[in-house]
Amino acid sequence: MPLSIAKTAETVSRLRCIGCGATPDSASQDFRCIACGDLLELFFPGWNRDSLAVDPSVLKALWLNRRTSREALDQSGVWRFRELLPHIPEEHAITLREGNTPLYHLPRCGRAAGVENLHAKHQGMNPTASFKDTGMTFAASSAHQGGFKWVACASTGNTSASMAAYAARGNMHSLVLIPDGKISWGKLSQSLDYGAITCQLRTDFDGCFRILNELVRQKPVYLLNSVNPYRIEGQKTAAIELMEQLAWEPPDHIIVPGGNLGNSSAIGKALIEMHDLKLIPRLPKLSIIQARGANPFYRSVREFGGKKIEPMTADTLATAIRIGNPASWRKALRGLEATGGEVEEVSEVEIAAAKAEIGADGIGCEPASAVTLAGLKKLRRRGFVKSGESVVLILTGHLLKDPDFTIKFHRGDLFKGTPDESEAAQAKYLQRAPVVLDADLGAVIGVLDEAERNSK
Ligand code: F0G
Repeated sequence: MPLSIAKTAETVSRLRCIGCGATPDSASQDFRCIACGDLLELFFPGWNRDSLAVDPSVLKALWLNRRTSREALDQSGVWRFRELLPHIPEEHAITLREGNTPLYHLPRCGRAAGVENLHAKHQGMNPTASFKDTGMTFAASSAHQGGFKWVACASTGNTSASMAAYAARGNMHSLVLIPDGKISWGKLSQSLDYGAITCQLRTDFDGCFRILNELVRQKPVYLLNSVNPYRIEGQKTAAIELMEQLAWEPPDHIIVPGGNLGNSSAIGKALIEMHDLKLIPRLPKLSIIQARGANPFYRSVREFGGKKIEPMTADTLATAIRIGNPASWRKALRGLEATGGEVEEVSEVEIAAAKAEIGADGIGCEPASAVTLAGLKKLRRRGFVKSGESVVLILTGHLLKDPDFTIKFHRGDLFKGTPDESEAAQAKYLQRAPVVLDADLGAVIGVLDEAERNSK
């Protein structure tokens, strides 16, 4: 089996503006079209005939076969699918064996949501514990190919953790801009340990992103936010790998959280491409869920028919998606419309309850990921998702990313003194506060007996 990365007609990619269709030879530092200011994407001129030179079944066999290889790039759940990605020479590839994330059955959550066939693809099982690694391996490699010494991002914590790790592996320096406060300690500690220069700016994510865009125009620093189209290409592989795990039989629904909307854009792009290339027989509906306090995309679709977006000041305890001006909203809209998906918004209490339910299935995730289950429940109640349909939730971050949220929820402190306090009473049955006891066997047996009685 060939292990090298061969450049073929199919993996030659070009940049294209999603707004005016211009096809520049190179990207500007902020990855925006110099003619109209919209975002750039990568496309493959060699795919114009709606098929690859290679038979889809040959590709599927090749990808599966690479799982047995000892080569680092074949062991990556991103680079394994390199026939559907732009060409990056092997000597520039930086990999931590990302991807290869599990697909779990969620029986209890399925019962709670009224859906029999419910699965979660857990992207929190990546090397830095979030979905960002699948895009970062690819975009960091493109920075390496471009000869950059410095990479940078604005982040709510996961992008920065991932970027710092991949920069370190590729011998590049990294600069992180994160909001001061409203970011989990777990994520912050990662970028410190991976050696990033970390700046906590007295603003929110949107403020950090504004400064970053100005910075890259003045300094030779490579921008690694998801406006970088190489991030999107790498993140496509989550959907490709999911289809492989489902033996190329798409589910009826895929549900993702929406923040800056890079992930939904990537999954939408992958689904459309796989369908065009006849790798899958039909398109699953891709739905996007936002926290009610950070719902500009939900309002764009519901109030303005996706014609425009109104930036807002975002606020949610799911700090990963505390974003009021999502950069990739037009790309995300394309996936939503092409697949016939929906948008939903969920409350803080709905997020916290869904997170505890995913935990109780023995899986767990960070708060932003739990919007998917909370959103599914609403889509099910509205009849958009039917009980017999198959659903896959994309869980984006690991439970241990934000232990503060989890502990406060189980102790009953999360909503204390907030306007959500009375709504939170509904989720009380999900709380499992730790019990502090004397070192006494009888006391422990007492707790055990009571728990046993309550479980009946
Ligand atoms: N879930 C988690 C755990 C995230 O960290 C993010 C985004 C999202 C969902 C939303 O994904 O932005 O592609 O729509 N986190 C970014 C960051 C913004 O900086 O880590 P999106």
